[in-house]
Amino acid sequence: MKNKFYITTPIYYVNDRPHIGHAYTTIAADVSARYHRTKGEDVIFLTGTDENSQKTVEGAKKSGEDVKTYADRLAAIWKSTWEALNIGNTDFIRTTEERHVKTVQEIWKRIWDNGDIYKGKYEGLYCKGHEAFMKEVDLVDGVCSDHKTKPEWIAEDNYFFKLKKYEKDLLKLYGDNPNFVTPEGRFHEVKSFVERGLEDISISREKQEWGIPVPNDNKHVIYVWFDALINYISAIGIDGWQKHPADVHAIGKDIIRFHAVIWPAMLMSAKLPLPKRIVTNGFFTIDGVKISKSLGNAIDPLDLAKKYGVDALRYFLLREIPYGEDGDFSEVKLKERYNADLANGLGNLVARVATLGEKVSPIKYNYTHPLHKLLKEAHEEYDYKISTFRFDEALEIGWKRIAQSDAALSVDQPWYKEGSERAEKILSRCIELVIITDLLEPFLPETAQKIKDQISYDRTNKVFHIKKTENLFPRK
Ligand code: MSP
Repeated sequence: MKNKFYITTPIYYVNDRPHIGHAYTTIAADVSARYHRTKGEDVIFLTGTDENSQKTVEGAKKSGEDVKTYADRLAAIWKSTWEALNIGNTDFIRTTEERHVKTVQEIWKRIWDNGDIYKGKYEGLYCKGHEAFMKEVDLVDGVCSDHKTKPEWIAEDNYFFKLKKYEKDLLKLYGDNPNFVTPEGRFHEVKSFVERGLEDISISREKQEWGIPVPNDNKHVIYVWFDALINYISAIGIDGWQKHPADVHAIGKDIIRFHAVIWPAMLMSAKLPLPKRIVTNGFFTIDGVKISKSLGNAIDPLDLAKKYGVDALRYFLLREIPYGEDGDFSEVKLKERYNADLANGLGNLVARVATLGEKVSPIKYNYTHPLHKLLKEAHEEYDYKISTFRFDEALEIGWKRIAQSDAALSVDQPWYKEGSERAEKILSRCIELVIITDLLEPFLPETAQKIKDQISYDRTNKVFHIKKTENLFPRK
């Protein structure tokens, strides 16, 4: 039986189009999904849209559309953006879909039956930007420092979830699973947060119309975060989750408490298995400035993809910013890396091998080359890096090989005049390129295909066919 691998991204709010920050999280998850697919695993890769938020209502109001029409239009934009960026998700969930609404209500009932939901009065602050309840200590001069808005004071009847009850179980979970959240520093913050003591949380809103109705009390809608987290189950069904919960939730650091504290507690209460790992990416700025709608600096990933190509964008994002850390995006750096690593590096190597090799193609080969062992070792190191989300280091391994191969090609230059010697030398470079292409495939799927079109190994007849075609990365 094939090994299963289930990975998710956050589901994104539909009050705006995707920007480069959202693309980063999604591309990282896609690389992981593609990697597991190359290992022959049966991959489920889920992304989608979080639509039951007040942000959707406000977005619709602004654009003068009916809420559902607006949500449909925006969800289609998210979907097509991921297609354009070559994201190989196997499903796309929208929280307005029937399959989700049903699952949320079912989970609510399970938690209710377990005695973990009660009615009470909520009085306090609510930040619409965060879609979260806030404390005075979270504010700077009474204002949410992320959204620069004053949270509203809410006083209403709410349903509460007994989060506090799960304090000990959560701490045990963290203790038993040292890799539950990565990077470690952020896991530490989560633990200290829980150690300081939890409070029960409000999980419904009384005065809203847009959202999933609370079962048996349709005067209330379910709090959007309580609903959103359950998407990970809705997509595969409660039975599916029971058999195989998510292996990885890939998220940004901003939503870690929801995923590492509230979500496991909800699952414990509903008596369902927990996700195995939560990996978090840092946040990046653009030319040193926070990405924000009001500043108008939210770069559209599609514009960059048009200019440099999808693969170059994917490569740059994962090479430039070590996964987990905060970083800075700049188009100047993108262009620099494009020219240095892709045009002069990989692109140039493939072009050289294809040009020289074409003249001696086909070349016979039967897996006896000493290079094989060496390259296998590179593969092992790479496997470790990529399965622990060290994408920049995984790419570094690939580029080290590219540089070595390029250097060997230059050293061997004098032999290229001799027919048989040339075939022998070119063979080594072809073997290397096949391995390099395997390594890079999850990051650069289109490029990998283009390399295979130029340098292909025919397994049945045990020969390399080499044919020079287009340059992979024309200089910018
Ligand atoms: N709808 C919630 C998530 C619910 S998941 C059950 C939400 N959506 S969001 O549209 O605001 O997307 C948040 C995610 O986008 C972040 O967690 C992060 O993965 C990504 N990013 C948004 N801005 C980013 C940066 N500036 N840098 C890196 N990632 C960024 O929160």
